[in-house]
Amino acid sequence: MPASRRDFMKGLRSGPSPQSFLSPTSSLSGAAIAARGLEDYMAQAQQRGQKTPSLVPPGVTEIRISSNENPLGPGKVALDAILSQFPEAGRYPFNSTPGETNLVAALAAKFDTKPDNVVLGAGSQEILKNAVRAFTSPTRALLTASPTFENCTNVAKQLGHAVVEVKVDSSFKLDTDAMIAASKGAGLVFFNNPNNPTATVHGAKTVADFVERVRRISPDTVILIDEAYHDYVIDPAYQSAIPLALRAPNVFVSRTFSKAHGMAGLRVGYAIGQAETVKPLAQLKMPYNVSVFGIAAAMASLGDPKHIEDERARNTDVRTFTMKALDEMGCKPTDSQTNFLFVEVHRTAKDFREACAKSGVTVGRDFPPFEKTYARISLGTMAEMQKATDVFRSVLRAAPSPTVAGKQR
Ligand SMILES: Cc1ncc(COP(=O)(O)O)c(C=O)c1O
Repeated sequence: MPASRRDFMKGLRSGPSPQSFLSPTSSLSGAAIAARGLEDYMAQAQQRGQKTPSLVPPGVTEIRISSNENPLGPGKVALDAILSQFPEAGRYPFNSTPGETNLVAALAAKFDTKPDNVVLGAGSQEILKNAVRAFTSPTRALLTASPTFENCTNVAKQLGHAVVEVKVDSSFKLDTDAMIAASKGAGLVFFNNPNNPTATVHGAKTVADFVERVRRISPDTVILIDEAYHDYVIDPAYQSAIPLALRAPNVFVSRTFSKAHGMAGLRVGYAIGQAETVKPLAQLKMPYNVSVFGIAAAMASLGDPKHIEDERARNTDVRTFTMKALDEMGCKPTDSQTNFLFVEVHRTAKDFREACAKSGVTVGRDFPPFEKTYARISLGTMAEMQKATDVFRSVLRAAPSPTVAGKQR
C-alpha cells in the first residue's frame, strides 16, 4: 500500500500531544529537566517507569529541535517498505523477508566487503555500548573527547571502567595531537567525526594520520570512528573512514540510520571493520536486535541514494539560513557539517533553552564544559527554522542573566 509521506506523517502526528502525558501528580519540574538535560532526564524517567513531561507550556505548538533528528522522517520508499512489512510482523528477523542477513549482505555489498565485516545494532548506541564492554576495563581506559557524544563515557563510568577525556581544540574540533598523546594503553578511542555536539569535522588525511600515530604508539588500542552524521558533511576534505577501517586492524566505524535516513525511532545502526575487530561486537549483540520494520526500511533507504543526496541538500540550505540568521544576531556558530549547530548564545544553555521553550522551541541539553555560553540547536525544516530564528531573536534581545561573565573557552 503506497503512502504519501506527508499523509503518513500527518496521521502519526494526530496522536496525543506531548502535553497530554503530563501528570498533575508529577513531581518533575521544568527546572529539573533543564538542569539535567532533556534526553538524560527522559531516559531516567522512563527507567523509573514515569511518564515524560515537556518544557513547552500547554497549548503551545512545539518545534522540537533538541535531539538531532531528521524532521521529515524516512523517505517515501522507506515508508512504503515499512507499510508493506506488516504481514511479516509475526516473524523473527532471521525468518522474515527481507531478514537480517539480507541487510548485512546489502551493507557488505555497499562497502565492497563481506558479511563478517558488518555487525548490526539496535541503533548505533548498541554498537557503542558493546564496544565499551568489549574493549575497556578498569585498567584499559576509554579515551574520548569533551564535549562529544557521551554514550561511551556514560557506559564506561557505569561499569567502573577508566575514562580519559580530552577537551576539543580552539576550533571546537577533536584535539588529535592531545588525544594521540593520551592514547598509550587505552582500550578504546572514541573518535566522533563529525563531532556531536560541536558539529565540526576532520578531513580524511587528519583521520588517517591520527589512526596511524595511535596504532604506532598503542597497537592494541581499538579505535572507534563514529560517523553518525556522515551524510550531512559537505567539506571536500572529509571522506568516510570505512575503507581505512577495512584495511587496518583494530579500527572500526559505526554508522546509523537515525540521522539522514530519518529512522531514529526504528533503531538501526551498524559497525564495519575487519572481521577480527568487530567479532567481539557480534558476540555481545542482542539476538534479533533490528526489527523486521527496521530491516525493510533500512534496505529500502540504502536502495534510494538520491533521497539521501536530496536530504543533504535540504539540510545544507536550512543550515546556511540558520547559521546566517544567528550570525546576524551576534551569535557565532562553529563550522557545522551536521544537522545541528553549536552556537555561542552569550548566556547559559539552560537560560536559553528555558526561554525558547516558553515559545514552543525546544533546543538541546547542556554540554559541559561549554554550557555557560554555548547551546546546541538541531535543524528542523526551513519553515520550522524560520519560526525558530524569530524566537531566538526575541530571546537573545533580552539581557543575559548576570551569572554569565564574558566568554567561555
Ligand atoms: C555521534 C552520535 N553517535 C551515535 C548516536 C546514536 O544514534 P542511534 O543510536 O540512534 O543510532 C548519536 C545520536 O544522536 C550521535 O549523535
